[in-house]
Amino acid sequence: MGTATIPHIVCAVVFAHIGVGLASLSTVVWSDPGDGLAGTKHDFSTLGGMPQFGLCTACHTPHNAQIQSLLWNHTLSANTFSWSDPQTVGGTDYPNFTGAAYNGATAKCLSCHDGSVAIGDVGWWNGGGPVSVLNTKLSGAFQIASATGDMNGNHPVAMPFPWNGVASTYNGSTTGASALVSGWQADPDALGLRLFTDDGVGNITSGATLGQTGFECSSCHDPHNGSGVQDRFFLRGVLGGSSADYICVKCHAK
Ligand code: HEC
Ligand code: HEC
Ligand code: HEC
Ligand code: HEC
Repeated sequence: MGTATIPHIVCAVVFAHIGVGLASLSTVVWSDPGDGLAGTKHDFSTLGGMPQFGLCTACHTPHNAQIQSLLWNHTLSANTFSWSDPQTVGGTDYPNFTGAAYNGATAKCLSCHDGSVAIGDVGWWNGGGPVSVLNTKLSGAFQIASATGDMNGNHPVAMPFPWNGVASTYNGSTTGASALVSGWQADPDALGLRLFTDDGVGNITSGATLGQTGFECSSCHDPHNGSGVQDRFFLRGVLGGSSADYICVKCHAK
């Protein structure tokens, strides 16, 4: 009798976790902005409500990475990302880039946040792989691109930034001549944001270089909730108000 009920109870528990996996992720948040990764929505050490793997493994692995850049462990999106409403800002063309080939951090974020790949679709852990523990895909407000890679409605990203007032070429796009006059901070890095350099042959590295600077999702967000995070949503600035820490004026001098 007892042995017959045990599998049933286990099944019910597993089923409940699959059913409310995302709901339970949203309720376990106990870490404040800037207090580190543990306990945030990016803490997947209890993916789906159950112990699965380590704090870093959903995203990085020391061996058998999907791509050397950032030792990435989460299955990358096969999408090509672009904005379906054609846009140029002051002559700067919006980029398009492929999830599995672009080295910038944005492609890593979109490996979960385009809703095309399961959150638990992770390559390697505990000497084996693949590990697939939570088959839910991101949806709703947290799905930033469409599942086919349309970025419409989003602030440009993986784009050049005119660092120190000089046009940049980054991810195949060059700052347009009239973009410079509209006013950007000379050095958002010094204000706590994170800029990147494109060496022109596909390598994206942290830090600004004159003429080769751009920004990624992680310019505004720190996915690790590190000490530079000032507000919710892992923001490297504050979400409200009009102070110098307001996220938008850390780049735009308005
Ligand atoms: C939710 C996914 C995610 C998790 C979990 C995660 N990272 Fe990252 N990590 C990223 C992304 C995306 C980047 C690139 C963003 C950037 O460079 O700012 C990155 C960048 C890094 C870098 C290089 C840039 C830097 O900030 O130094 C290191 C090192 C790193 N992560 C280590 C870790 C370690 C160690 C853990 C676990 C304690 C961890 N990460 C957990 C997504 C993650
Ligand atoms: C392994 C999958 C994965 C990766 C990679 C990932 N995220 Fe997330 N992210 C999630 C999940 C899951 C949530 C929580 C969704 C929910 O609560 O419904 C989340 C939540 C967030 C939130 C909201 C946090 C909050 O406290 O409300 C932000 C902002 C965010 N992610 C940005 C990023 C950025 C930027 C990157 C890349 C630098 C990134 N994510 C990489 C899976 C991921
Ligand atoms: C220019 C700064 C900036 C960039 C770049 C940026 N974000 Fe955000 N993000 C924000 C701000 C500000 C919010 C808070 C929006 C609000 O709710 O008012 C936010 C909110 C979010 C949220 C929470 C849900 C929501 O829509 O409010 C997620 C998830 C997220 N960003 C992911 C990403 C990903 C993935 C990328 C790259 C594709 C990205 N962000 C690029 C500034 C940025
Ligand atoms: C990391 C730096 C950075 C941050 C932070 C930032 N922006 Fe931007 N923003 C840019 C750059 C760079 C461009 C495009 C530059 C170009 O045209 O060459 C841009 C473009 C824009 C555009 C023009 C879009 C279009 O297609 O016409 C608007 C509007 C805008 N940003 C608003 C905001 C708002 C609102 C915030 C705060 C939520 C914000 N930005 C935060 C760097 C940033």
